[in-house]
Amino acid sequence: MLKIENLSGGYSEIDILHGVAISIEPGETVTIIGANTAGKTSILRAISGVLPRVVGMIVLDGQAITHKPAHEIPALGIGHVPEGRHVFPRMTVEDNLFMGAYSARRKAKISSALEGVYKLFPRLLERRKQMAGSLSGGEQQMVAIGRALMCNPKLLLLDEPSLGLAPIVVDEVHEAILAINASGVSVLLVEQNASLALSVASRGYVLEDGRVVLQDTAEALRTNPEVRRAYLGI
Ligand SMILES: Nc1ncnc2c1ncn2[C@@H]1O[C@H](COP(=O)(O)OP(=O)(O)O)[C@@H](O)[C@H]1O
Ligand SMILES: [Mg+2]
Repeated sequence: MLKIENLSGGYSEIDILHGVAISIEPGETVTIIGANTAGKTSILRAISGVLPRVVGMIVLDGQAITHKPAHEIPALGIGHVPEGRHVFPRMTVEDNLFMGAYSARRKAKISSALEGVYKLFPRLLERRKQMAGSLSGGEQQMVAIGRALMCNPKLLLLDEPSLGLAPIVVDEVHEAILAINASGVSVLLVEQNASLALSVASRGYVLEDGRVVLQDTAEALRTNPEVRRAYLGI
């Protein structure tokens, strides 16, 4: 479904990413784990068309999207939940969700997407008229995920969804990712929290200094001594 080949680039003439290759099959949940500044966010930004300089190939369902402008990406079926959530604090929960549907043309499609988000996160339905800025961190993460789902994506990019959340809330986010995947959406999950990521994903890539240094099934990565030492703290 998504095939990234020989991806390099960055924010200036200096390369942050070095020949990254990643693929995602339909229905898969794949994770990229790596330390802070490894380049995880930059890969997601490249896919979404917001990394300033991109060299290489990004192909979605056979179509090259490498240099598509960012505003065309959601309509192609890629939803992006950015690191740090970036909800609009002075807008209601529901208006935040509508922001994710700007590329949808049909009203019926928007209301069915909204219904799907409220089914996944009943708490957002209860708080739909509240300002997003008044919600807890976990609820704001739900808003950010819900907003990305409003474009009816076939692929969801999730950037550190568990960062800064209490363990019980992390479990809720984890459950939500599993439910989204079970509904047929492929997921590319980027995490510093490798143990969470490897418990949700079926396959994973280990990124170091902008290079993929290891790729395997989540099970194999979980039991890999190097991964355990470097990323799982075991
Ligand atoms: N907006 C930016 N401008 C310049 N350099 C950046 C910017 N964002 C990130 N970087 C640099 O790119 C590298 C990779 O960062 P990033 O992709 O955010 O890594 P990760 O998500 O794995 O922590 C880091 O060295 C970081 O300093
Ligand atoms: Mg990051």
